Amino acid sequence: MATFDARMVRGDIAQFNRVINNHPLTYLDSGATTLPPRTVLEAMNRYYELHHANVHRGVYQTAAEATAIYEGAREAVATFINAPGGAEEVVFTKNATEAFNLLAKSWGASQLKSGDVVLLSEMEHHANIVPWFQLRESHGIEVRFIGVGDDFRLDLSNLDELLRGVKLVSLTGMSNVLGTINPIKDLARAAHAAGALIALDGAQSVAHSATDVQDLDVDFLAFSAHKMLGPTGIGVLWARRELLEAMPPFLGGGGMIADVSVNGFTFAPPPARFEAGTPPIAEAAGLLAAVRYMSSLGMANVAAHEADLTADALTRLAGTFGERVRIIGPSNVVDRGGVISLDVQGVHPHDVSQVLDQHGVCIRPGHHCAKPLMKRFGLSATARVSFGPYSLVQDTDALLEALADAVSMFG
Ligand code: ALA
Repeated sequence: MATFDARMVRGDIAQFNRVINNHPLTYLDSGATTLPPRTVLEAMNRYYELHHANVHRGVYQTAAEATAIYEGAREAVATFINAPGGAEEVVFTKNATEAFNLLAKSWGASQLKSGDVVLLSEMEHHANIVPWFQLRESHGIEVRFIGVGDDFRLDLSNLDELLRGVKLVSLTGMSNVLGTINPIKDLARAAHAAGALIALDGAQSVAHSATDVQDLDVDFLAFSAHKMLGPTGIGVLWARRELLEAMPPFLGGGGMIADVSVNGFTFAPPPARFEAGTPPIAEAAGLLAAVRYMSSLGMANVAAHEADLTADALTRLAGTFGERVRIIGPSNVVDRGGVISLDVQGVHPHDVSQVLDQHGVCIRPGHHCAKPLMKRFGLSATARVSFGPYSLVQDTDALLEALADAVSMFG
């Protein structure tokens, strides 16, 4: 049975005991990375202290234990996202960015030809843009974009036209800048009806609401562990089994082969085919603990908690600062997550962020690796606030106080 108490989650994270510039830490940068609870760190330590050995190789006991932990993480991820084909559909990568590179450079390079179209959106992270541009250069594909409207949502008015000739639609579940949650289920239906596959960038969404790849009916899903209370250094590409089976290896080396001779090699079935070299074993132990932890909280509880925080923050930001602080994203919590980008009139986001740091408040200034979106709204940067399962209303109190200081300091 899932139980959720944000204060308890916070109690599991030592960093919240820190005092920064004479203020208690206010961490509002979960869009960039999340703070791992003690159980994740303990799982990684325990692995190194007791079970450390290489996986899929040794026959001695600790090697078998290490392999069980690593493969256990794969199974836990498969259950977490409801993968229809189970653990064999889960490929471990370095992060979500590498998952997209694997998708473009293996599936894309083998399945797409000159003139084929990949449909993205203007609100994508560079990780879901640049690999497709690289494929455009190497294979002559066309990269097309769904625009973003003045309401900060995808402009789907000409979707049928945009879908013409499309082989893959690749979209974020939730914008890392706007907080907009996209209608992935509807878009999956439309993509399939047009004969295209659909990939979901879950980097910002998997830690904040339930992700069920069967219910969404997507074909690929990419995400990172460190954005879901896990460690850095491990990410996931999930794909339906038959898609993975048709994909050639991405990196070559140990672990991904069936046989090698002086004349050449044959490759292993998925997921080993895509995991050359010693994989991130300790990180998998951490990811396994993170998945268990998030499951114990209940993703519906996490989503409801963050929606409450976001609604409260949006109301109070508008009420306190009015026109002085523009919110670059939907103004209510309908189909919107806990990422709030601010444009403080007359103050550069880096200056805002520096003043906030003096109050111990951590936010991210910048273009958030989403330059096409910034250009769409005529901005070079925003000051981005983002919540996690451990965020509390007191964080918004600290934010408002620090923001008032920034606004008054710059006149
Ligand atoms: N992609 C991460 C962010 O949006 C780093 O902040």
